[in-house]
Order: sequence, then C-alpha cells, then structure tokens
Amino acid sequence: MTSTLRKLYALALFSLVAPMIVSAQKPSKKAMKKMIAENMQFAASQYKVLQQNTPADRMPRSFNNGKSITSDTEWWCSGFYPGSLWYIYEYTGDEQIKAEAERRLAILEKEKRYTGNHDIGFMIFCSFGNAYRITGNKQYKDVVDTAAVYQITRYRPAIQSIQSWNGNKDRKCPVIIDNMMNLEQLLWAAENGGSQQFRDIAVTHANTTLKNHYRPDHSTFHIVDYDLSTGEVIKKINGQGAHDTSAWSRGQAWGLYGFTMMYRFTKDQTYLQHAKNVADFLLSHPNMPADLIPYWDYNAPQIPNTPRDASAGAIMASALLELGQYVDKKDKARYVHAGALMLRSLASPAYRANLGENGGFLLKHSVGFFLQNSEVDVPLTYADYYFLEGLLRYKKWYL
Ligand code: GLY
Repeated sequence: MTSTLRKLYALALFSLVAPMIVSAQKPSKKAMKKMIAENMQFAASQYKVLQQNTPADRMPRSFNNGKSITSDTEWWCSGFYPGSLWYIYEYTGDEQIKAEAERRLAILEKEKRYTGNHDIGFMIFCSFGNAYRITGNKQYKDVVDTAAVYQITRYRPAIQSIQSWNGNKDRKCPVIIDNMMNLEQLLWAAENGGSQQFRDIAVTHANTTLKNHYRPDHSTFHIVDYDLSTGEVIKKINGQGAHDTSAWSRGQAWGLYGFTMMYRFTKDQTYLQHAKNVADFLLSHPNMPADLIPYWDYNAPQIPNTPRDASAGAIMASALLELGQYVDKKDKARYVHAGALMLRSLASPAYRANLGENGGFLLKHSVGFFLQNSEVDVPLTYADYYFLEGLLRYKKWYL
C-alpha cells in the first residue's frame, strides 16, 4: 500500500472508531474524583505489602507463581518503585510512604553515574525528579543534574542519537524507541540551570527517531540498528514486538509519551502533530479492545487469545491526558476521554489487584517480553507508576 493510501485507510478507520470512543459513557467529575481517591488510598495500603515483600537493599520487579521477584538498583526499572511512592505520598501525605521513598532513594543514588545503557532517565528522573518536585530538596536536584551529565556520554554524533544498548554479535549500535522517555531528564536539567547541550542532544535524538523509527502509518519499530562508522541505518527490527512489521504496544506507548513530552519542553509543532498521529493510530486501530487496554502487540498473531499489556495502557493513558492539554477542544475531548476510560479499566477488578494480593503490586496483566516468555501476564513496576501518574494528571488538569 502506498503511503497516501495507508493514510486514507487510517483516516477512514479512525472516523469510524473515534465516535465510538467518544460516545462511550463519559465519566462524571464526581465519579472520577471518587475513583482517584479510592485508588490512591488503596495504593498507600497495598504498597506497604510490596515493601514487606522487598528486601531493604533491593527493588521490587514483579510477582509470579506466588513469588516476589526483586532486582538490584542497576535494573532499568529501579526508579519506578520510589517514583510511585512519591506519587502516593503527594496525594495522601502518608508519612510512612514518604519514609519508605527516602530509604529507597538512598540505595538508588549510586546509579546517578550509571552508563551501562540509556535508562538512567527512567532510573533517576522518575525517582529523584519526583522527589525534588514534591519536596524542593536541592540534594535531589543535584542527583538529577549529575545523571544528565552521565546520560549524554552515550550520545553518538555519527548517528545523531544516544546509543540505547551496547553492541553485540547481532547489533552494532541499537537505538530503541523507549529512549524517547529518557530525554525528559535532559530537557528538564537544561531548563533548570543545566547545560544547553542536554537540550540540543535531546532534540537531535528526537529528530533522528522521528526520521528513522516511524513508519508511514505512524507506528514505530522497536529497534533501529546503526553503523557508527558510516552513520547509516543497518536494519529496523522488532525487538520485543511480534515481528519486524508489527506494532509492539509498549513501544508505541513510549513514543506517544515521548513526543508529547518533547512538545511540552520545545513547543515544536512537529512533535505535537506527530504525537496526535500516533494517538490516532493507537486509538483507531482495529485491534484496540473496547476497554482500551491493548494486547501486548497490536499485530500479535494470536489476538484475541493473547495477553493484554496493562503497562502499555497505563503509559498511553498518562500520555493522552497530557496530549489533551495541547490540542483543540475536539481533540482534547477525545484524548482525555480515552485516557479516562483507560484509567477506569485499569482500576476495575479486571486489572487491579485486591488488597494483600498480587505481591503488593497495584495492577495485574502486564507483559515484559512475550517472545522470550519473560514477564508474561504479571505485575510490573512501570505499569503501577504510569497508572498513578495518570490518576494524578487527571486530578490536576481535569477535575
Ligand atoms: N525495553 C523496555 C521495555 O520493556 O519497555
């Protein structure tokens, strides 16, 4: 299909599906307020269970077959648990939650110089960034500033990108769509007294991603592999997705969030238009289920007999709520409504755990790496983090 035909097809589909999304019953402000309050109180209780299940020198990672799975602080997800604690504290003012957040920051701080991959943004900005935003404690800001300095050591001028993972026998210089999320730390650091180089690198990386990761239908590859000696793209591949031309759901969510965030910092209309295109691709896709929590890949061959990915739903919800801030009234209604429906789905018994169950995590049914049978249909820290963030965003902007 040519790119124009593809666009027409997507538009036609979207005009069919969008009214369905918008016309699904719109929750009242009162209902949303109650839902947010109930979930935040639940989170404060449930995360004390998660704390009990997590040794003091480790971070929670998942829960499977009745067993808690934890990680060291080098794991890319180590910032999400402290970040979630800060979100819960922000809403509830629960001092026990704050004390736990502080303890976990203390074991995480050493990662501010981590250069093993690109994920220092997830690790440090989601944790220390929130800690600084909420408390104003300058020591937390110093940690973010240091992390930004180390983050840009992975910038490769030859490919105009930050290298996500180190090379191996299969890939020379892989850059993954997830990397868009880590740019927030650089843009924030530049805007808050840091070097302009942080911003320049973030913008350059985003522009390269826009050029090389995205397909004409506004879906994204997970991995683009580059040749550092020529700067050329070697190959574009699936990584955690179903196949090389599929739309891996979390990757699509990272991109939606990442380009919405790029617009927040730069006000560049190209990023905004791109984020809208991605949102429309995701919301109008024929394989998007009615509860708006995607399957782990939009093109998973086993649909509908394959797991959903609550983490992708949570990231999309939070991103759509932000996107709603930047668009006209009509688009705002669609995106905010879709975000609210996603949050309500996640908060329903279909996805949310009962108190004391699920190892202390809030949400069930996320997927880490389906094809490697790793973390399939389990709780994951980032699903909880973006769910909480989405609830707080809804409260801040739409109540
Ligand atoms: N590669 C990080 C993720 O699973 O989203």
